[in-house]
Amino acid sequence: MRKVLLLVCCISGLALQCVNSRLCSTNSKPYDLFGTKTLYENVAGDLPNQRARAPKRCSPIFVYGLIRHGARYPGNDAVIELRKLKELTKSINVTGRATLCKKDLEAIRNWKIWTDEYNDSNLTAYGANEMRQLALRLQQFLPEILSAGTPASKYRFTSTESTRTIDSMEAFVESLSQGSFRDEIKNFTEIVTEEIDPINDENCNRYVREVDDNDNITEEYDKFVEGPIVTQMSRGIARRLGVPSSMITNDVVNRLYDDGCYSEQWVTGKNAPWCNVFSKKDLKLMEYGSDVEDYPERGYKFPVTYQQNCFLSKEIVNMVKKAGDDDLREKEQNVLARFRFAHTSNIVTLAANLNLYSDEPGPTADAFYSQQNRAFRMSYFSPSAANLVFVLYRCEIGKRTRYTVQVYWNEKLLKSYPACPSATHRARGMCNLETWLWQYRSFVAGSPTECNQEEICA
Ligand SMILES: *[C@@H]1O[C@H](CO)[C@@H](O)[C@H](O)[C@H]1NC(C)=O
Ligand SMILES: *[C@@H]1O[C@H](CO)[C@@H](O)[C@H](O)[C@H]1NC(C)=O
Ligand SMILES: *[C@@H]1O[C@H](CO)[C@@H](O)[C@H](O)[C@H]1NC(C)=O
Ligand SMILES: *[C@@H]1O[C@H](CO)[C@@H](O)[C@H](O)[C@H]1NC(C)=O
Ligand SMILES: *[C@@H]1O[C@H](CO)[C@@H](O)[C@H](O)[C@H]1NC(C)=O
Repeated sequence: MRKVLLLVCCISGLALQCVNSRLCSTNSKPYDLFGTKTLYENVAGDLPNQRARAPKRCSPIFVYGLIRHGARYPGNDAVIELRKLKELTKSINVTGRATLCKKDLEAIRNWKIWTDEYNDSNLTAYGANEMRQLALRLQQFLPEILSAGTPASKYRFTSTESTRTIDSMEAFVESLSQGSFRDEIKNFTEIVTEEIDPINDENCNRYVREVDDNDNITEEYDKFVEGPIVTQMSRGIARRLGVPSSMITNDVVNRLYDDGCYSEQWVTGKNAPWCNVFSKKDLKLMEYGSDVEDYPERGYKFPVTYQQNCFLSKEIVNMVKKAGDDDLREKEQNVLARFRFAHTSNIVTLAANLNLYSDEPGPTADAFYSQQNRAFRMSYFSPSAANLVFVLYRCEIGKRTRYTVQVYWNEKLLKSYPACPSATHRARGMCNLETWLWQYRSFVAGSPTECNQEEICA
């Protein structure tokens, strides 16, 4: 039965009924988790609306957002890799026994190099739109803070010095503001020079020494890439393409995945022809491999990796604290909303430093099966446009005023994390500000255990 189905579906152009065959692609994407190259829309949560977000007696008085740039073009070196893939298309079905559906093979044969060096790592049009849509959703979520009535001077926007983050900030700001306000608000945006940016991990000597320049750091990933999983996968790919298996080295598998498959998908938002040389299981394994690669550089393995996030953690915790203090005293805030536009490493190391996910043994080369439900999963942590949003509320309870904090990660509410052991309203993740600040006391300015960026990075 299965054979018949395969035959029917792989015959000539009648490839419409391919749904039941794993050898033929369907129009929908077979698998859409690609580590940090996952599209935001495939994993994002749903921000609640104004009515559902918090108990009625609570109103938002401050928001802080750390936002990763939207989807981007690959870097310049991708162009060389794409040329190599173009070469590979000439060998398709040289064995005469390619098993991939004719339609899919044709798509690969006709595939064209889709980017050039001019677009080196820049934000894509799709990525700019991710920013605009995120701004609009945040506006609906917190209209009291982010609506047109808020004076421009109550906003602060900061970007790292790279084209994709600056363009992300601009798209976000434009979407949030209108008319003359738009010019005014630009006065409250800043770009921090790379060499002095305190959130640039390259400026943390100890991190560079112990992690970045550590030759051992890719040990597990190298083991994964050289190992039996990828070797077996390469045989399957060779069969599908109808090329000798010696042509599909592990390097080629990686090229097919990185440059052929996910990079294009990230730019177009559509299934890329090269993705079809992988089975769904292959794609799951490659996603796992990307976590094996990212974990030592971005997870809990080396304490300096997340501890160097001291500056950013302190900025957030102290701005939230100040907003509470000012409100109690004057019922007024100097700054209502602060947004920073940055990168994957900032999002993920902040999450680790604030203990927003659990510190378990990380993914290693041969632990795929035991790590199926791993905590460290970049597809969910840091897709395009990834964000961590902190909201401070003032709650009136009878005659008492209380302050509570909510944290959203990619628009999903965090209901329980170490700094929020007992939310006053668990379903809505309302953490008592005092408890929150006590748990994060090492980030509170002036506290005896206050972290020190310079010491950490020395
Ligand atoms: C591959 O080549 C063989 C032999 O030339 C041919 O019969 C077959 O149809 C080709 N397969 C595809 C999918 O193009
Ligand atoms: C480069 O980016 C521009 C602006 O986003 C776009 O119009 C153009 O098509 C891109 N070029 C390539 C080769 O993708
Ligand atoms: C991409 O960014 C560079 C700056 O890094 C800029 O010079 C170039 O014009 C941008 N390309 C496009 C197509 O926007
Ligand atoms: C921006 O700030 C400058 C200097 O403070 C000021 O002169 C200018 O009017 C401001 N622009 C707008 C549009 O508010
Ligand atoms: C790298 O690994 C080797 C052998 O396992 C070890 O001797 C060396 O100290 C490691 N280097 C670093 C920087 O961790």
